[in-house]
Amino acid sequence: MTPTTRLNVLTYREGPRDLLPVVLLHAFPLDSRMWDDVAPLVPGARTLLAVDLPGLGSSAGPGTSAPSLDDAADAVAQTLAAVGLTRAVVVGLSMGGYVALALLDRHPGLVAGLGLLDTRSTADDDDTRANRLRVAAELELSGTVDAVRPMARALLGETSRTLRPELADRIGALIEQQTPAGVAWSQRAMAARPDRTATLHGFVGPALVLVGDEDVAAPVAAAEHMVAALTAPHLVVVPHAGHLTAIEDPSSVGEAIGELAGRADIDEQRARD
Ligand code: MLT
Repeated sequence: MTPTTRLNVLTYREGPRDLLPVVLLHAFPLDSRMWDDVAPLVPGARTLLAVDLPGLGSSAGPGTSAPSLDDAADAVAQTLAAVGLTRAVVVGLSMGGYVALALLDRHPGLVAGLGLLDTRSTADDDDTRANRLRVAAELELSGTVDAVRPMARALLGETSRTLRPELADRIGALIEQQTPAGVAWSQRAMAARPDRTATLHGFVGPALVLVGDEDVAAPVAAAEHMVAALTAPHLVVVPHAGHLTAIEDPSSVGEAIGELAGRADIDEQRARD
């Protein structure tokens, strides 16, 4: 990516300047629209927006640069600066959480509050990394999103898969709209990410760690690992939800984000007084 990369921003609402804005970062292999059900359920009037990560949704392809979530985080920071946001509550789900951690590492002044949903701070093990590279190659070779299509069902928790199979159709429709090149780039970028647990040790601001109790991809143990590294965490375990809590239980996610943003506002006010 170039230093002038601008990503697509989905603005759900614009609020008063004295309340911290909330920035939502989506999961793989989806885009900002995965937050559609959550956005109206975040209490309060604050600015709420979501960013399409590089090569996904309506954001431009990442070009030929070596895939890196650091570049994705830099692009998010540049994009936010371009719309006048230099301080925000940053909330990421899964891959969005990896990017939130990269933002915290590389642009710490931006992050007033941190929401880590169904994600992990650790790097991939060798098998996971090898599998990502295999999937990326398959996406590029086939020129389709076939290799990630099964994720529509696999990311849901057992309860959602059984009781609300229509959610898989909705996630599948989002996957269909991604480009194989953008999805492959994201896989390679995730494979290259470092362990960022130490970054959490250095963050003293308010944090939310939220996880579905049926999440297999980033299970409760991964959430507890992050909680142990944070100074001011609030852990929320969402019952009967899998990896995509924002789609499976938007009301719990909206409420938890509102609570995090409220804590971040109070800290900002204290710092100003
Ligand atoms: C996601 O939901 O963003 C993915 O499960 C992240 C990953 O593959 O590690």
